[in-house]
Amino acid sequence: MTDSPLTLLRRHYLHCLPSRLRNWHEFWLYRCLELALQGLGRVAPNPLVGAVLVRPRGRPLARFLSEEGEQGQGQGPEPQPGQTTASGGESYSRLEADCARYFEVLGQGYHAACGQLHAEAAAFADAARNGYGPKDFQEAILYCNLEPCSFRAASKKQPPCCEQVVQRRVGAVIFANIDPNPEVAGRGASELRRAGLIVRSGDFALPSASVNQIFFRHITGGRGRKAADNVLNAPRPWVSLKLAQSLDACIATKSGDSRWISGPKARAMVQALRAGHSAKYSAVTVGCSTLEADDPSLLLRPAFLQELSHSGEIALSPENQKRLACRQPWRVVWDSQLRSSSLPLQFYSGPERERSIAIYHRDNPEGAERAKVLQQKGIAAIGLEVPLHSTEGLARGLAELSRPPYNIQHLLLEGGAQLAGSFLAAGLVDEVYCFISQRFIGAGLRSLQDIHPGQERVLLSESLQLRHNSSMRIVEDRDGWDGPEEVLCHGYPNEIFIPQTQI
Ligand SMILES: NC(=O)c1ccc[n+]([C@@H]2O[C@H](COP(=O)([O-])OP(=O)(O)OC[C@H]3O[C@@H](n4cnc5c(N)ncnc54)[C@H](OP(=O)(O)O)[C@@H]3O)[C@@H](O)[C@H]2O)c1
Repeated sequence: MTDSPLTLLRRHYLHCLPSRLRNWHEFWLYRCLELALQGLGRVAPNPLVGAVLVRPRGRPLARFLSEEGEQGQGQGPEPQPGQTTASGGESYSRLEADCARYFEVLGQGYHAACGQLHAEAAAFADAARNGYGPKDFQEAILYCNLEPCSFRAASKKQPPCCEQVVQRRVGAVIFANIDPNPEVAGRGASELRRAGLIVRSGDFALPSASVNQIFFRHITGGRGRKAADNVLNAPRPWVSLKLAQSLDACIATKSGDSRWISGPKARAMVQALRAGHSAKYSAVTVGCSTLEADDPSLLLRPAFLQELSHSGEIALSPENQKRLACRQPWRVVWDSQLRSSSLPLQFYSGPERERSIAIYHRDNPEGAERAKVLQQKGIAAIGLEVPLHSTEGLARGLAELSRPPYNIQHLLLEGGAQLAGSFLAAGLVDEVYCFISQRFIGAGLRSLQDIHPGQERVLLSESLQLRHNSSMRIVEDRDGWDGPEEVLCHGYPNEIFIPQTQI
């Protein structure tokens, strides 16, 4: 059976995590991330969170935790929680083999979708199913990748996790990232400490933060909230750039042929990227030349929509087309004069057109006329006062997308070369997924226009290097693909955001 889009994306996320783990805390937090990733495509606007409740075997919890010492160096014959397992760490599978000896897993869980149980509550429910209760939890550690939440709100469907952790008399809580949500931001940890629990944070902070960048961007309102007068610092969606190119950096042949430069697995992963952490809050975007040349649907396939729908309540009957359309991500085109709107394109037709947004420059009468026509058809048209071909234009467009009624938190930029180049040159790309097909196209369309326009000489040291970068082979099923093997290169043009680690 072929892997589903979510399975493929999950594999990529796991591939980006460190392959060597330094101690038991990192091992259990890695396990939390594995669980958290089960919520891919469904959790937004919430974060991806996993939780594991474990009890050290043979030693009281306080002794187990104190033995590691402040410096994290354990003593004695058995591995200690903060002890470096070997020079450079141990592999996950090696530690997993030992784990059954030193720990008893009482329960584990994850946040499966917005509105459903939080990870901590899911772990308690699992523990109850396994026959464990509060008397077992006193000697247990609750590991989670994010600080447990501590507040109630009208919009919140679940009770605060801290309350449940205290009620169940858990001995210790260890989490990777403080929740940067201003409603939490260390309050969860303080509440647990006040109730007498041992609390520790900051282990595995970078890998854990990389999994929740979309949530962090949304909840902190962008890093420049204080300077919102500058549009470059205004709240905006997390922007992932997807490129699919040849070894010589072409995305299409001279004749414009670009279908299919990558194989079925790479394309399935793109489906999952389109859904982001929930299609409702995600968008896919292209420049108007790509829309005109390829007439792409930019939609999620019905089978994938069904996979995203947990309860399976979406029946793929024609009567349900309308409901299916609501589950699609937004589609966005950047088109100064709305030229593309006069063509018979999928973007402007079908029930999904209600999820289409055209961004244009208000400064031209044709554009304004075409915008009216679009709005009559139920298609959103956002008119900007500034040219789209400018950093300010792109930033203003993004800021509009993050506001109601769109509330877009994740934008997948699918090209073409001009739009992608402009976003990169403007510093508005947060993450890059580049699928490289091992073929040469020769004279073709380059994947990116110049990102250093006007600069005569650029040194290699000035080139834009990805940080926290990784690469992964995409192993295609040979029955469905006779093209060359592909590699996915992934990384971040800027430092990623790690919430403060210690409280
Ligand atoms: N292999 C792949 O993965 C892949 C992916 C995408 C595209 N493609 C191929 O790429 C080709 C189209 O790429 P392209 O580079 O020619 O065009 P593009 O980037 O898709 O669109 C460029 C157009 O977008 C509009 N635009 C609005 N704001 C812009 C900005 N800030 N910066 C740049 N453009 C902006 C401009 O038109 P206005 O001035 O009128 O606004 C511009 O002419 C097609 O042949 C398509 O098949 C391949």
